[in-house]
This record gives sequence, structure tokens and C-alpha cells, in this order.
Amino acid sequence: MTLRKIIIDTDPGQDDAVAILLAFASPQELDVLGLTCVAGNVPLDLTAKNARIICELAGKTDVPVYAGCDRPLARALVTAEHVHGKTGLDGPDLPDPQMPLQQMHGVDFIIETLRAAPSGTVTLCPLGPLTNIATAFRKAPDIVQKVQEIVLMGGAYFEVGNITPTAEFNIYVDPEAADIVFKSGAPTVVMPLDVTHKALVTAPRNDAFRALGTPVGIAVAEMTDFFERFDKEKYGSAGAPLHDPCVTAYLIKPALFTGRHVNVEIETRSELTLGMTVADWWGVTDRQKNAYFIGDLDADGFFDLLTERLARL
Ligand code: BDR
Ligand code: CA
Repeated sequence: MTLRKIIIDTDPGQDDAVAILLAFASPQELDVLGLTCVAGNVPLDLTAKNARIICELAGKTDVPVYAGCDRPLARALVTAEHVHGKTGLDGPDLPDPQMPLQQMHGVDFIIETLRAAPSGTVTLCPLGPLTNIATAFRKAPDIVQKVQEIVLMGGAYFEVGNITPTAEFNIYVDPEAADIVFKSGAPTVVMPLDVTHKALVTAPRNDAFRALGTPVGIAVAEMTDFFERFDKEKYGSAGAPLHDPCVTAYLIKPALFTGRHVNVEIETRSELTLGMTVADWWGVTDRQKNAYFIGDLDADGFFDLLTERLARL
């Protein structure tokens, strides 16, 4: 497998943290050029802080961290402290970061990195609202052809919604940004709730993280301990869904996932269904296919990969 250059665009978030740790633990497959932070699960100052806490936990203080947009393109910010806690990273007791935040704006980092790269060679991994990516595409449309692939966590078809009855959080927070990204023409892979709700941290899977006995393994177990209380109560599920790690796992081992090439449009106007990802899963329209929409995964294979990789940190 060739080494992929990636930019992780993120709003940590415990599941973002695990996704980033998985990327850091996989240097043979993934070259993390930088982390760009966005307002989402918690406001931007906290996501930018949490991203650096994660870098330091993994000993990756050489990875640059940038702050990006502090609010959606056209709306007030909606956050998710009810899921992730007040800090966004509740659960483990991790020290405040010492490494600096980069001066450059996250959007400018995305633009400059893509402009300097050959066509189709940088993969974007959005794990939060799509504000930074859409802003970069709007400011510098020439960079779209530099994108190898966008692999994002967001949306839902069969699972419909989590923040509203019909919308998934990342898309709902900034539907105008999502609309720009899905219409950009960049090759796009989508990890919707349909698949992430099958990536559940059951008790034995959580025990396996803890049994690593390392600071990373213990922190991941404590993060999922915290994060799971919400979903267990809401869905009666066996544990926390690891949404965002599906993105980095796909880049490392795509064979774990199956999906369909479909058309996805974003609802930006309806009050009732704002942020809905209208996915033509059954091919009932002739709208152009613009996304590889994942529906299923080999959950045991996913957790084996995750545990084996986290052990390396
Ligand atoms: C998504 O929203 C956030 O709460 C998670 O970090 C994930 O990216 C799931 O809807
Ligand atoms: Ca996230």
C-alpha cells in the first residue's frame, strides 16, 4: 500500500481523538500533514486545544495543529456537550497541551498544502462540520483537483438522524458547507451513521483497549467509557459508536467496508429536515453519483485493527 498524505479536519470529540490516534499509529499507510480544527462538538478554542492534547498523548508533537473556522458559513453554531461533555474530551484526565497552535489559519493551511501538491495527491479527512473544507474550496476552487479523495464522517440514510430526527450532527451544523463539498466534484467517500452505528465499543472491546496498559490504551478506554453513556441510554446499544475512526480505518484497510456509489444531496432549506443527506441508495433518480456511501463494515476486523494499531503508540 502506498503512503497517503492526509489532512485531518476535526472537532475533537472523543471519537475524533480515536480516529486521530489510529492515523498516528499507522505511519506506513498515512502521512498526517496536519490537523485543522473546526467548531463543532465544542467551540473552536476547545477543539484546537483538544487536538493538541491528542498529539501530545501520542507523542506526535511534530504534527502541526491549526485553528480554522469558529462558526458555520451561514448559521449560529450548534454544539454537542450533551454527548462529549463540557471539554469535548471528557473521560480521561489529560494534561493541558504544551505544544503551540500554529499561527496560520486552518483554511489557509489546506489551501497552501493543496496548491503545493501534485494533482490528486492529498486526501482530506473531515471528522466534523465541513466549514473549513467548504471555505477552502470557495476561496480557492483550483485546489479541488489536487484532492485525491475526501473521506468524511457525516450523514445518514437508513439511520436518518441523531441531532434531529432527520439529520446527522456534522452535516446539520453546517449544511451550506456540506452542500458545497458534495457538489465540488472531488471523489468522496461517506461514513454515515448507517455504518458507524455498527462500530460499537462493546465491553470486551473496551476491555481490550484498557488491557493494552499504555497511556493511549487507557485514555481510549476512558474516553469510550464516558462517550458510551449517551448512546447506551438513547439507543439501548451495547456501547459507544466509534463514528470518526471509520474514516481513518477505511484509509488503512478499505476492505473492511462496503457501500454503494450514489447521489447525495444536502437539504439546506427545509426547517423540518435541515441537514438531511438525501442519498439515492436505491437509484430511483438519474442524479449524478457523487459519493461512495458506506453501509456496512466488518466490525470485529475494525476493532482488531484499532486495538493492534493503538498498541503501537
Ligand atoms: C459525529 O458528530 C460528532 O458528535 C462526532 O464526533 C461525529 O463526528 C457523529 O454524528
Ligand atoms: Ca467529530
